[in-house]
Amino acid sequence: MCGIIGYVGQRKAEPLLVEGLRRLEYRGYDSAGLATLQGACLHLRKCAGRVADLARHLRERPAPGGLGIGHTRWATHGPATDTNAHPHASTDGRVVVVHNGVIENYAMLRRGLEAGGVVFRSDTDTEVIAQLIAHHLADDLMAATHTALARLQGSYAVAVLSPCNPGMLIGASSGAPLVVGLGQGEYFLASDPGALAGITDEVVFLQERQMCALGADSWQMFDDARQHVPVNIEAISSTAIVTEKGDFEHYMLKEIYEQPLALKSALHMRLDPGTHGFAGMEGDESLLRADRLLLTACGTSYHAALLGKYLFEELARIPVEVEYASEFRYRNPPTDPRTLVVAISQSGETADTLAALRQAKLRGHPTLAVCNVTNSTLAREADGMVPLRAGPEIGVASTKAFTCQVAVLTALALQMARTRQLSERDAARIAQEIATLPDAVRDALECQDAVRRVAERYCRVDNFLYLGRQYLYPLALEGALKMKEISYIHAEGYPAAEMKHGPLALVDADTPSVFFLSRGHVYDKVMSNLEEVKARGGPVIAVACNGCDEAAARADEILYVPEVSDYLQPLVSAVPVQLLAYHIALLRDCDVDKPRNLAKSVTVE
Ligand code: M6R
Repeated sequence: MCGIIGYVGQRKAEPLLVEGLRRLEYRGYDSAGLATLQGACLHLRKCAGRVADLARHLRERPAPGGLGIGHTRWATHGPATDTNAHPHASTDGRVVVVHNGVIENYAMLRRGLEAGGVVFRSDTDTEVIAQLIAHHLADDLMAATHTALARLQGSYAVAVLSPCNPGMLIGASSGAPLVVGLGQGEYFLASDPGALAGITDEVVFLQERQMCALGADSWQMFDDARQHVPVNIEAISSTAIVTEKGDFEHYMLKEIYEQPLALKSALHMRLDPGTHGFAGMEGDESLLRADRLLLTACGTSYHAALLGKYLFEELARIPVEVEYASEFRYRNPPTDPRTLVVAISQSGETADTLAALRQAKLRGHPTLAVCNVTNSTLAREADGMVPLRAGPEIGVASTKAFTCQVAVLTALALQMARTRQLSERDAARIAQEIATLPDAVRDALECQDAVRRVAERYCRVDNFLYLGRQYLYPLALEGALKMKEISYIHAEGYPAAEMKHGPLALVDADTPSVFFLSRGHVYDKVMSNLEEVKARGGPVIAVACNGCDEAAARADEILYVPEVSDYLQPLVSAVPVQLLAYHIALLRDCDVDKPRNLAKSVTVE
């Protein structure tokens, strides 16, 4: 989703801004732009399309100056056009703004400004901010920005510049992240510290409703009452740098293949239930003594949460509820305030997950974030944080973050089980089973050729069904989501036994059903469900482990995966479905890493 970058210092702003925008590309966007100041002379360049299009534009018309702001926009108000791209300037040209977030009362503010004669150029909510600051601007840009922001409802991270105050870059944040990067005689602003990794080692995160004023040789931070605030300087690691694809054609494929290593790192030192804490966890470990859990997340992370429910309830005997973050934030369920609310997110910036976490805190719940990006807003706001350690995930379709989320939840469930009823002997056996996961996932990757053949056979269908039971039911949901988001084929995931309550009507010769099978206690039940689909002429693709001979005999296609314990099977069986979605998307010429309409970090509601 939208990304912000800003610079003030002795160097030329333009190349630094373009590099920052390139680093923000992975978030997903549909237009890009920047504005620089050379003295009081404003240079504004923006266009729909990619950062590469903007860079081409800049080669013809450079944007000189040592102060500037840049933006990648993911359309919310108005289509992706040159005019709607950020930055937005006030009609009088005195104020220029880039913005992440959504201004909920923009229509009312716009009407008020238009009644006063202001002429708007774009469809965006952001233009209201620029016009409003200009409306309040006499000679103090900071004061005008402060007054204008106080009139906004919604969320924002903004960077503001003005030809009337040519040495000043202003940043402000409320409900959307913004960091200041500290350099030698230069300062940066970014919505994502990853955009600054390798450029500066030190950052300061703006807290809720804080503002900053950056000049080439000084900087200040203010609270909502415009009082100076003490700052907390944090180090960022260069590992946040967006890594290259290497020999892989796409990030998604690279990340699928990284899973054995990522799982090793996610599980490192976390399988010793003799220890009291959870390795790498930040915050008070007494949080883990909760006797009820509420897991909340969105998208793929929600599917990991569903698996978490099965894991915590079965391994640790802890009752668990799972809520979509977007639903939980607007509900007021009668939860016990002692319930630990666990927010699960790869990015840690998903607007709904953040809002759910904040709601939970307001209601007095202890909170824990399970997060891949350790300096994200979610990670910083929760009472405790468990890092996934999966490494940066760039492809919009989440793959290694999903398997690492489930692995970390498994290890966490084991840890919590051990502090309750689980014997040391059973805990040691389970820990040993979990430790085999990275190798099992490595072996599962060998299905790639078989998957490619299946993909060639089914890449032109319009619908897919994904069916599983018990631990493999959340994976059915995840398999369907992967197929939808990157190949644009309609797909639905169901608990296999639910088919006869409705979805069986969808089965025909052109609707393949992907069945997940393991040799656990519901094997025969799933086989019966498979037969029901076969009896209605539906093609069956079975994802099954060696030894599921009956499934192999009855299915039209079989994709073998190594056999592991039931509760680990979804992590291994995830590999063929990730690859199936990938190969079908390739065959359909879809943009695998940047699927249409989607963004990596969903920072709006
Ligand atoms: O960063 P998060 O884990 O909070 O993101 C949640 C969802 O937006 C994300 O999982 C989304 O569903 C993925 N594109 C799925 O592959």
